Amino acid sequence: MMLSQGFPATFLVIWCVQATLALGLSLLGCPSDAAQRSASQKRMERLFLNLRERGPGGPRRRPEEPSDEELYSWLSMLMDENSGTSGLIHEPTEATGYATSHHPLPCAPGIFTTELLQFLWMWKTQSATEEVKQLVTQSDRHWAFLRISPWMNVLKLGYGSTFAAGHELCTLVPAPPEAMDLESAARRFHAAWPGSTTTEATIFKQFHVLTAVDYRSCASRGRRCQRWLHRRFVELALRQPFACGVVCRYAAAFAYLAQALTDNRGRRRWLRKWSEDQEKLVEDAQAQILLADGIFYTLLGPQQVQLTCSLTRSFPIFSLLARLAGIPMSLGDSNSNPRDETATNPTLKVPNQPPPPTLAKLCDLIDQWPPLQRLTAQGAMAVYSMLQSLGSLLDEFQIKWWMSSGALLGTLRNGGMLPQDCDVDIAIWRPDAHEMLSPKFQAALAAAGLVSFHMPIYFQYRFCLVQVPAAADPRSVQGGLACHLPYVDAHLADVAEEGRWHYIHRTDLQYAHSFPLKGILGSQKRDLRQRRFFGDAKVWIPNLPQSEEYLNKVYGEDWRKVLRGRRGAMIHNLSAGESFWGMIARPTGPLRDVIREQKLIGNLLPGAAVTCSHDCDHD
Ligand SMILES: *[C@@H]1O[C@H](CO)[C@@H](O)[C@H](O)[C@H]1NC(C)=O
Repeated sequence: MMLSQGFPATFLVIWCVQATLALGLSLLGCPSDAAQRSASQKRMERLFLNLRERGPGGPRRRPEEPSDEELYSWLSMLMDENSGTSGLIHEPTEATGYATSHHPLPCAPGIFTTELLQFLWMWKTQSATEEVKQLVTQSDRHWAFLRISPWMNVLKLGYGSTFAAGHELCTLVPAPPEAMDLESAARRFHAAWPGSTTTEATIFKQFHVLTAVDYRSCASRGRRCQRWLHRRFVELALRQPFACGVVCRYAAAFAYLAQALTDNRGRRRWLRKWSEDQEKLVEDAQAQILLADGIFYTLLGPQQVQLTCSLTRSFPIFSLLARLAGIPMSLGDSNSNPRDETATNPTLKVPNQPPPPTLAKLCDLIDQWPPLQRLTAQGAMAVYSMLQSLGSLLDEFQIKWWMSSGALLGTLRNGGMLPQDCDVDIAIWRPDAHEMLSPKFQAALAAAGLVSFHMPIYFQYRFCLVQVPAAADPRSVQGGLACHLPYVDAHLADVAEEGRWHYIHRTDLQYAHSFPLKGILGSQKRDLRQRRFFGDAKVWIPNLPQSEEYLNKVYGEDWRKVLRGRRGAMIHNLSAGESFWGMIARPTGPLRDVIREQKLIGNLLPGAAVTCSHDCDHD
């Protein structure tokens, strides 16, 4: 009955994704006829609810409760109905066969739910708490299934009790070792001080300051929170994607599901219908979980289970999913878990100041092939989102800009940020640059969460996240302020001799060239720049032939094939079949759309103050 223990979670990922792609609204291998599934599903719910009422290994409390024999007979019926695993081949190479041929798929949610109920049965009727604890902690593929199988599909198919059983079993799983316990770390740093870079602890803190509610109490203490609190938390968290780590993503998922649930009042239990809004909220919730799922790839199986359960104890998303399926669940920890562990935990003492998160390390260094990424995931996301926000504001204010130096190389050759880079360089057309000093641009910039520092002796602007503390730039003679990484540097460019442009200030000999103006501006000031993607961000490059000429001059004619270190030493020469494309710093999003945001909130953009155009009426 049980799938082999060696069944790897990664295969499950591939399999679920492929099954979903192949079948559209996937049945996940289950019978398409709801009536055919329903008897089995009702049995699952009944078994779950009855098992939950038992104390571990406890006898039934009331004579009208089903006897152990009855419970066992339900379980064995489920095992018969949801078998079919004997035909399951646990080989990634075979996995595609299931999705692409007419080979019948095993009904994954049916199998997984039955297996989780088996664990629950062993725990509650067989006094096998220790064994079940072991088994559950080893079952990382079950938890991977709960996280990544398309939730809305599982709900629509009627297998909500899989989430209910998952929630209940998590109460058995011990907390992760302290070094890995992200939730308790976030709690410890909750009182993050001003002046430190924003972390997810700060997001919880911000929420606390704004609303006088610790969002985690909305989740874990069963405390009633109004719908607007959930909505507010999502807004706050997703405006600062670079600071929203795993714990914050789980909190955001919880917030989406809690909103979906408040739409659920008065729904009859077996109706299994959700509004479009609810479906969207469930999908948004799962998107948050998937964004955080990378954290699990480097962990051992038992650690994956510990971490999943620690996070879902704090933000009981599986419980909410089960409730969406009409299964009565309590919000807080179930009674089998020690309730106030956190109150007595000495690690919860607030330190003076949380350590600043490391966003970048050993920037520009390439010491191996393929090159290592030097920004953390949060750092990479910060750079892409800064660039996207800044770029769209520059466009809105009609300030011409384009990718420069390593960022241009990254755009054309790799499709995004070079893995070894920690910042992005752009060029800004000097005749447009005065606009950047206007109060209006500064206000729009601030609303986007950015701040600019002018570094006069370099003819350069540096754009930073407002939260990143300013620091004296050691190169600045008059002690001008700048910020720590990550940032976007904007170098002013102007007309040089006839028909060419150059950077006004040339920091490096390799930039001491001038470049053809017709990559930027044609006659009658026609804009000749081209659009490209840089990860998920939209950027400008000079017209392609001139971009290539630029790269030839700055990086050598063989830039398409040869990777060089900072001093020009060759690191790698591509062989046939190898490519730089896609070798970029990740993740590249999600990115904010600051233009849309600013149209929604008011008149920060040019022209908007005079009359509100049809755009804002519409919004
Ligand atoms: C890279 O390899 C090609 C042949 O594959 C060779 O022609 C070229 O000179 C090499 N480049 C360097 C910098 O070694």
